[in-house]
Amino acid sequence: MEKRLKKLRNQMNKDGIEAILITRPPNRRYISGFTGSAGTVLVTQTEMFLFVDTRYTVQAKSQAPNFKTIEYKRHPDRIPTIAKECNHLGVTEVAFEAEAVSFAEYQALQKGLAGLQLKPVNQYVDKLRMIKDESEIATIRQAVAIVDRAFAQILKEIKPGMTEVQVATRLEFLMREYGATSSSFDMIIASGKRSALPHGVASDKVIEKGDLITLDFGALYQGYISDMTRTIMIGKPSEKQKQIYDIVLEAEMRGIQSIRPGISGVEVDAASRDYITACGYGNYFGHGLGHGIGLEVHEGPTLSTQSEDVLAPGMVVTVEPGIYIPELGGVRIEDDVLVTESGYEVLTQSKKELIIID
Ligand code: GLY
Ligand code: MN
Ligand code: MN
Repeated sequence: MEKRLKKLRNQMNKDGIEAILITRPPNRRYISGFTGSAGTVLVTQTEMFLFVDTRYTVQAKSQAPNFKTIEYKRHPDRIPTIAKECNHLGVTEVAFEAEAVSFAEYQALQKGLAGLQLKPVNQYVDKLRMIKDESEIATIRQAVAIVDRAFAQILKEIKPGMTEVQVATRLEFLMREYGATSSSFDMIIASGKRSALPHGVASDKVIEKGDLITLDFGALYQGYISDMTRTIMIGKPSEKQKQIYDIVLEAEMRGIQSIRPGISGVEVDAASRDYITACGYGNYFGHGLGHGIGLEVHEGPTLSTQSEDVLAPGMVVTVEPGIYIPELGGVRIEDDVLVTESGYEVLTQSKKELIIID
Protein backbone atom coordinates (compact mmCIF):
# COMPACT_ATOMS: atom_id res chain seq x y z
CA MET A 1 0.00 0.00 0.00
CA GLU A 2 2.80 2.39 0.84
CA LYS A 3 4.43 1.98 -2.56
CA ARG A 4 1.09 2.66 -4.22
CA LEU A 5 0.56 5.83 -2.21
CA LYS A 6 4.06 6.91 -3.09
CA LYS A 7 3.37 6.38 -6.81
CA LEU A 8 0.16 8.39 -6.49
CA ARG A 9 1.83 11.23 -4.60
CA ASN A 10 4.71 11.41 -7.09
CA GLN A 11 2.20 11.70 -9.89
CA MET A 12 0.21 14.37 -8.02
CA ASN A 13 3.41 16.28 -7.40
CA LYS A 14 4.29 16.18 -11.10
CA ASP A 15 0.82 17.35 -12.08
CA GLY A 16 0.57 20.02 -9.41
CA ILE A 17 -2.38 18.32 -7.74
CA GLU A 18 -2.73 19.25 -4.08
CA ALA A 19 -5.50 16.85 -3.09
CA ILE A 20 -7.49 14.10 -4.78
CA LEU A 21 -10.82 12.47 -3.98
CA ILE A 22 -10.90 8.81 -4.97
CA THR A 23 -14.31 7.22 -5.20
CA ARG A 24 -14.17 4.55 -7.91
CA PRO A 25 -14.28 1.26 -5.93
CA PRO A 26 -11.25 -0.52 -7.48
CA ASN A 27 -9.16 2.64 -7.19
CA ARG A 28 -10.29 3.24 -3.63
CA ARG A 29 -9.34 -0.33 -2.80
CA TYR A 30 -6.01 -0.12 -4.62
CA ILE A 31 -4.90 2.96 -2.71
CA SER A 32 -6.36 2.23 0.73
CA GLY A 33 -7.03 -1.51 0.98
CA PHE A 34 -10.65 -0.79 1.92
CA THR A 35 -13.05 -3.17 0.13
CA GLY A 36 -16.42 -1.72 1.19
CA SER A 37 -19.02 -0.66 -1.36
CA ALA A 38 -19.07 3.02 -0.39
CA GLY A 39 -16.49 5.47 0.85
CA THR A 40 -14.34 8.39 -0.24
CA VAL A 41 -10.56 8.52 -0.08
CA LEU A 42 -8.85 11.92 0.20
CA VAL A 43 -5.09 12.03 -0.35
CA THR A 44 -2.70 14.99 -0.10
CA GLN A 45 1.11 14.96 0.06
CA THR A 46 1.01 14.58 3.82
CA GLU A 47 -2.42 13.27 4.81
CA MET A 48 -4.82 10.52 3.86
CA PHE A 49 -8.42 10.13 4.93
CA LEU A 50 -11.13 7.57 4.39
CA PHE A 51 -14.68 8.89 4.80
CA VAL A 52 -17.28 6.18 5.44
CA ASP A 53 -20.77 5.80 6.81
CA THR A 54 -21.48 3.87 10.00
CA ARG A 55 -21.77 0.52 8.18
CA TYR A 56 -18.09 0.59 7.39
CA THR A 57 -16.30 2.31 10.27
CA VAL A 58 -14.89 -0.85 11.85
CA GLN A 59 -13.97 -2.40 8.50
CA ALA A 60 -12.29 0.78 7.27
CA LYS A 61 -10.14 1.08 10.39
CA SER A 62 -9.04 -2.50 10.08
CA GLN A 63 -8.43 -2.60 6.31
CA ALA A 64 -6.89 0.85 5.97
CA PRO A 65 -5.01 1.37 9.25
CA ASN A 66 -2.76 4.08 7.80
CA PHE A 67 -5.72 6.21 6.79
CA LYS A 68 -7.57 8.45 9.16
CA THR A 69 -11.08 6.99 9.13
CA ILE A 70 -13.76 9.64 9.46
CA GLU A 71 -17.32 8.52 9.96
CA TYR A 72 -20.38 10.46 8.88
CA LYS A 73 -23.73 9.50 10.32
CA ARG A 74 -26.11 10.31 7.50
CA HIS A 75 -25.61 10.52 3.75
CA PRO A 76 -26.28 14.30 3.58
CA ASP A 77 -23.39 14.79 6.02
CA ARG A 78 -20.88 13.19 3.66
CA ILE A 79 -19.79 16.17 1.57
CA PRO A 80 -19.84 18.66 4.47
CA THR A 81 -17.59 16.25 6.42
CA ILE A 82 -15.15 16.13 3.51
CA ALA A 83 -15.35 19.93 3.17
CA LYS A 84 -14.48 20.36 6.83
CA GLU A 85 -11.28 18.32 6.50
CA CYS A 86 -10.29 20.11 3.29
CA ASN A 87 -10.68 23.41 5.07
CA HIS A 88 -8.57 22.16 7.99
CA LEU A 89 -5.87 21.13 5.56
CA GLY A 90 -6.04 24.49 3.83
CA VAL A 91 -6.22 23.01 0.32
CA THR A 92 -7.51 25.26 -2.43
CA GLU A 93 -8.03 22.76 -5.22
CA VAL A 94 -9.33 19.17 -5.16
CA ALA A 95 -9.05 16.71 -8.03
CA PHE A 96 -11.84 14.19 -8.57
CA GLU A 97 -12.22 11.15 -10.80
CA ALA A 98 -14.26 12.35 -13.76
CA GLU A 99 -15.35 8.81 -14.69
CA ALA A 100 -16.69 8.12 -11.22
CA VAL A 101 -18.67 11.27 -10.56
CA SER A 102 -22.19 11.65 -11.90
CA PHE A 103 -23.50 15.05 -12.88
CA ALA A 104 -25.67 15.13 -9.75
CA GLU A 105 -22.67 14.27 -7.59
CA TYR A 106 -20.63 16.97 -9.32
CA GLN A 107 -23.31 19.53 -8.55
CA ALA A 108 -23.39 18.37 -4.92
CA LEU A 109 -19.58 18.69 -4.71
CA GLN A 110 -19.71 22.18 -6.21
CA LYS A 111 -22.24 23.22 -3.62
CA GLY A 112 -20.69 21.43 -0.64
CA LEU A 113 -17.08 22.29 -1.44
CA ALA A 114 -17.83 25.90 -2.35
CA GLY A 115 -14.64 27.92 -2.29
CA LEU A 116 -12.53 24.98 -3.49
CA GLN A 117 -11.52 24.59 -7.10
CA LEU A 118 -12.72 21.22 -8.49
CA LYS A 119 -10.37 19.64 -11.04
CA PRO A 120 -11.50 16.64 -13.10
CA VAL A 121 -8.84 13.98 -13.78
CA ASN A 122 -9.15 10.96 -16.03
CA GLN A 123 -7.85 7.43 -15.46
CA TYR A 124 -5.62 8.83 -12.74
CA VAL A 125 -5.30 5.90 -10.34
CA ASP A 126 -6.27 3.49 -13.14
CA LYS A 127 -3.01 4.29 -14.93
CA LEU A 128 -1.01 3.51 -11.79
CA ARG A 129 -2.77 0.15 -11.60
CA MET A 130 -1.54 -0.98 -15.02
CA ILE A 131 1.77 -2.29 -13.67
CA LYS A 132 1.12 -4.93 -11.05
CA ASP A 133 3.28 -5.54 -8.01
CA GLU A 134 4.42 -8.98 -6.88
CA SER A 135 1.48 -9.58 -4.57
CA GLU A 136 -1.01 -8.65 -7.28
CA ILE A 137 0.67 -10.98 -9.76
CA ALA A 138 0.63 -13.81 -7.20
CA THR A 139 -3.11 -13.28 -6.64
CA ILE A 140 -3.86 -13.19 -10.37
CA ARG A 141 -1.93 -16.47 -10.73
CA GLN A 142 -4.30 -18.02 -8.18
CA ALA A 143 -7.37 -16.67 -10.02
CA VAL A 144 -5.94 -18.15 -13.22
CA ALA A 145 -5.24 -21.54 -11.60
CA ILE A 146 -8.90 -21.72 -10.61
CA VAL A 147 -10.14 -21.30 -14.20
CA ASP A 148 -7.65 -23.84 -15.50
CA ARG A 149 -8.79 -26.37 -12.94
CA ALA A 150 -12.49 -25.68 -13.54
CA PHE A 151 -12.02 -26.00 -17.30
CA ALA A 152 -10.28 -29.37 -16.94
CA GLN A 153 -13.19 -30.63 -14.86
CA ILE A 154 -16.00 -29.23 -17.03
CA LEU A 155 -14.50 -30.96 -20.07
CA LYS A 156 -15.25 -34.27 -18.36
CA GLU A 157 -18.86 -33.25 -17.81
CA ILE A 158 -20.06 -31.41 -20.94
CA LYS A 159 -22.25 -33.52 -23.20
CA PRO A 160 -24.88 -32.99 -25.86
CA GLY A 161 -28.30 -32.40 -24.29
CA MET A 162 -27.02 -30.05 -21.59
CA THR A 163 -28.05 -26.41 -21.84
CA GLU A 164 -25.57 -23.56 -21.88
CA VAL A 165 -26.93 -22.40 -18.52
CA GLN A 166 -26.30 -25.84 -17.03
CA VAL A 167 -22.66 -25.62 -18.12
CA ALA A 168 -22.37 -22.09 -16.70
CA THR A 169 -23.95 -23.09 -13.40
CA ARG A 170 -21.62 -26.04 -13.04
CA LEU A 171 -18.57 -23.89 -13.87
CA GLU A 172 -19.64 -21.35 -11.27
CA PHE A 173 -19.95 -24.10 -8.69
CA LEU A 174 -16.55 -25.57 -9.56
CA MET A 175 -14.78 -22.20 -9.42
CA ARG A 176 -16.24 -21.48 -6.00
CA GLU A 177 -15.34 -24.94 -4.81
CA TYR A 178 -11.76 -24.26 -5.91
CA GLY A 179 -11.62 -21.06 -3.89
CA ALA A 180 -13.16 -18.31 -6.03
CA THR A 181 -15.46 -15.70 -4.49
CA SER A 182 -17.55 -15.87 -7.68
CA SER A 183 -17.33 -15.56 -11.43
CA SER A 184 -15.54 -12.42 -12.49
CA PHE A 185 -18.21 -11.54 -15.08
CA ASP A 186 -21.37 -12.98 -16.66
CA MET A 187 -20.15 -16.19 -18.18
CA ILE A 188 -20.22 -16.51 -21.95
CA ILE A 189 -21.26 -20.00 -22.99
CA ALA A 190 -22.23 -19.73 -26.63
CA SER A 191 -22.88 -22.86 -28.69
CA GLY A 192 -23.70 -23.57 -32.32
CA LYS A 193 -24.87 -20.46 -34.18
CA ARG A 194 -24.71 -18.55 -30.90
CA SER A 195 -20.92 -18.92 -30.87
CA ALA A 196 -20.96 -16.17 -33.51
CA LEU A 197 -22.05 -13.79 -30.73
CA PRO A 198 -18.79 -12.50 -29.21
CA HIS A 199 -20.58 -11.85 -25.92
CA GLY A 200 -23.33 -14.48 -25.99
CA VAL A 201 -23.99 -15.04 -22.30
CA ALA A 202 -25.23 -18.52 -21.40
CA SER A 203 -28.81 -19.18 -22.57
CA ASP A 204 -31.19 -22.12 -22.33
CA LYS A 205 -30.07 -23.37 -25.74
CA VAL A 206 -29.40 -27.10 -25.74
CA ILE A 207 -25.88 -28.12 -26.77
CA GLU A 208 -25.93 -30.38 -29.80
CA LYS A 209 -23.60 -32.45 -31.95
CA GLY A 210 -21.94 -30.28 -34.57
CA ASP A 211 -21.74 -27.25 -32.23
CA LEU A 212 -18.69 -25.22 -31.52
CA ILE A 213 -18.97 -23.91 -27.95
CA THR A 214 -17.22 -20.79 -26.76
CA LEU A 215 -16.61 -20.80 -23.03
CA ASP A 216 -15.40 -17.43 -21.79
CA PHE A 217 -15.20 -17.27 -18.04
CA GLY A 218 -13.10 -16.09 -15.14
CA ALA A 219 -12.70 -16.31 -11.40
CA LEU A 220 -12.74 -13.52 -8.86
CA TYR A 221 -10.18 -14.36 -6.20
CA GLN A 222 -9.24 -12.02 -3.35
CA GLY A 223 -10.37 -9.08 -5.44
CA TYR A 224 -8.42 -10.02 -8.59
CA ILE A 225 -9.75 -11.66 -11.70
CA SER A 226 -8.85 -14.10 -14.42
CA ASP A 227 -10.43 -14.19 -17.88
CA MET A 228 -10.03 -17.15 -20.21
CA THR A 229 -11.75 -18.37 -23.37
CA ARG A 230 -11.60 -21.77 -24.97
CA THR A 231 -13.70 -22.96 -27.89
CA ILE A 232 -14.44 -26.67 -28.02
CA MET A 233 -16.25 -28.90 -30.50
CA ILE A 234 -19.10 -31.31 -29.88
CA GLY A 235 -18.72 -34.11 -32.44
CA LYS A 236 -16.64 -34.02 -35.59
CA PRO A 237 -15.81 -30.53 -36.84
CA SER A 238 -16.61 -29.54 -40.43
CA GLU A 239 -13.74 -28.40 -42.64
CA LYS A 240 -14.83 -24.81 -42.15
CA GLN A 241 -15.01 -25.09 -38.36
CA LYS A 242 -11.56 -26.63 -38.29
CA GLN A 243 -10.16 -23.98 -40.61
CA ILE A 244 -11.51 -21.11 -38.50
CA TYR A 245 -10.19 -22.72 -35.36
CA ASP A 246 -6.71 -23.12 -36.77
CA ILE A 247 -6.61 -19.51 -37.98
CA VAL A 248 -7.68 -18.13 -34.59
CA LEU A 249 -5.17 -20.33 -32.80
CA GLU A 250 -2.31 -19.22 -35.03
CA ALA A 251 -3.38 -15.57 -34.66
CA GLU A 252 -3.50 -15.93 -30.90
CA MET A 253 0.00 -17.44 -30.79
CA ARG A 254 1.32 -14.63 -32.98
CA GLY A 255 -0.22 -12.02 -30.70
CA ILE A 256 1.27 -13.65 -27.59
CA GLN A 257 4.69 -14.11 -29.14
CA SER A 258 4.89 -10.44 -30.04
CA ILE A 259 4.56 -9.37 -26.40
CA ARG A 260 7.59 -7.71 -24.82
CA PRO A 261 8.35 -4.50 -22.98
CA GLY A 262 8.30 -1.48 -25.29
CA ILE A 263 5.88 -2.88 -27.88
CA SER A 264 2.72 -0.85 -28.38
CA GLY A 265 -0.84 -2.07 -27.94
CA VAL A 266 -1.39 -1.32 -31.63
CA GLU A 267 1.53 -3.54 -32.66
CA VAL A 268 0.41 -6.52 -30.55
CA ASP A 269 -3.09 -6.17 -31.97
CA ALA A 270 -1.66 -6.10 -35.49
CA ALA A 271 0.44 -9.23 -34.89
CA SER A 272 -2.81 -11.19 -34.55
CA ARG A 273 -5.13 -9.16 -36.71
CA ASP A 274 -2.90 -9.06 -39.77
CA TYR A 275 -2.82 -12.84 -39.86
CA ILE A 276 -6.62 -13.12 -39.64
CA THR A 277 -6.94 -10.48 -42.35
CA ALA A 278 -4.44 -12.26 -44.59
CA CYS A 279 -6.53 -15.42 -44.21
CA GLY A 280 -9.56 -13.49 -45.47
CA TYR A 281 -11.45 -13.16 -42.18
CA GLY A 282 -10.52 -9.62 -41.14
CA ASN A 283 -14.14 -8.48 -41.36
CA TYR A 284 -15.18 -11.15 -38.90
CA PHE A 285 -12.87 -9.98 -36.09
CA GLY A 286 -14.52 -6.79 -34.90
CA HIS A 287 -13.19 -6.27 -31.38
CA GLY A 288 -9.82 -5.36 -29.96
CA LEU A 289 -7.22 -8.05 -29.30
CA GLY A 290 -7.09 -7.71 -25.55
CA HIS A 291 -7.09 -5.71 -22.36
CA GLY A 292 -5.43 -5.49 -19.00
CA ILE A 293 -6.82 -7.48 -16.09
CA GLY A 294 -6.45 -6.98 -12.36
CA LEU A 295 -8.99 -5.63 -9.92
CA GLU A 296 -11.28 -5.24 -12.94
CA VAL A 297 -12.03 -7.45 -15.92
CA HIS A 298 -11.31 -4.65 -18.33
CA GLU A 299 -8.56 -2.22 -17.43
CA GLY A 300 -5.46 -0.76 -19.02
CA PRO A 301 -3.47 -1.37 -21.09
CA THR A 302 -5.53 -1.87 -24.22
CA LEU A 303 -4.40 -3.98 -27.16
CA SER A 304 -6.30 -2.64 -30.14
CA THR A 305 -6.02 -0.58 -33.30
CA GLN A 306 -6.85 2.48 -31.19
CA SER A 307 -4.56 1.77 -28.25
CA GLU A 308 -2.26 4.49 -26.93
CA ASP A 309 -0.51 2.15 -24.50
CA VAL A 310 2.99 0.69 -24.54
CA LEU A 311 3.67 -2.56 -22.69
CA ALA A 312 5.94 -2.71 -19.66
CA PRO A 313 7.02 -5.47 -17.26
CA GLY A 314 4.37 -6.24 -14.66
CA MET A 315 1.39 -5.62 -16.92
CA VAL A 316 -1.07 -8.49 -17.28
CA VAL A 317 -3.11 -8.58 -20.48
CA THR A 318 -5.48 -10.87 -22.30
CA VAL A 319 -4.89 -11.94 -25.88
CA GLU A 320 -8.20 -12.94 -27.41
CA PRO A 321 -8.66 -12.91 -31.15
CA GLY A 322 -11.84 -14.34 -32.60
CA ILE A 323 -13.64 -15.00 -35.86
CA TYR A 324 -17.43 -14.76 -35.74
CA ILE A 325 -19.48 -15.74 -38.78
CA PRO A 326 -23.19 -14.99 -38.43
CA GLU A 327 -25.46 -18.05 -38.81
CA LEU A 328 -22.42 -20.31 -38.84
CA GLY A 329 -20.62 -19.86 -35.57
CA GLY A 330 -17.43 -18.52 -34.14
CA VAL A 331 -14.19 -19.24 -32.38
CA ARG A 332 -12.32 -17.22 -29.76
CA ILE A 333 -9.25 -18.25 -27.80
CA GLU A 334 -8.13 -16.12 -24.86
CA ASP A 335 -5.17 -16.35 -22.54
CA ASP A 336 -3.91 -14.17 -19.70
CA VAL A 337 -0.33 -13.07 -20.28
CA LEU A 338 2.18 -11.42 -17.96
CA VAL A 339 4.63 -8.99 -19.53
CA THR A 340 8.10 -9.87 -18.19
CA GLU A 341 11.48 -8.14 -18.41
CA SER A 342 12.47 -10.37 -21.33
CA GLY A 343 9.12 -10.91 -23.03
CA TYR A 344 6.06 -12.68 -21.75
CA GLU A 345 4.73 -15.50 -19.63
CA VAL A 346 1.42 -17.14 -20.47
CA LEU A 347 -0.40 -17.62 -17.17
CA THR A 348 -3.38 -19.68 -18.34
CA GLN A 349 -2.29 -23.27 -18.88
CA SER A 350 -5.36 -24.94 -20.42
CA LYS A 351 -4.56 -26.64 -23.69
CA LYS A 352 -5.43 -24.97 -26.94
CA GLU A 353 -5.52 -27.71 -29.55
CA LEU A 354 -9.13 -28.18 -30.67
CA ILE A 355 -10.84 -30.35 -28.06
CA ILE A 356 -13.47 -32.64 -29.52
CA ILE A 357 -16.15 -34.11 -27.25
CA ASP A 358 -18.14 -37.02 -28.63
N1 GLY B 1 -15.26 -11.82 -21.09
C1 GLY B 1 -15.01 -10.57 -21.56
C2 GLY B 1 -13.72 -10.49 -22.22
O1 GLY B 1 -13.10 -11.48 -22.53
O2 GLY B 1 -13.22 -9.44 -22.44
MN1 MN C 1 -13.01 -13.31 -21.62
MN1 MN D 1 -11.15 -10.68 -22.04
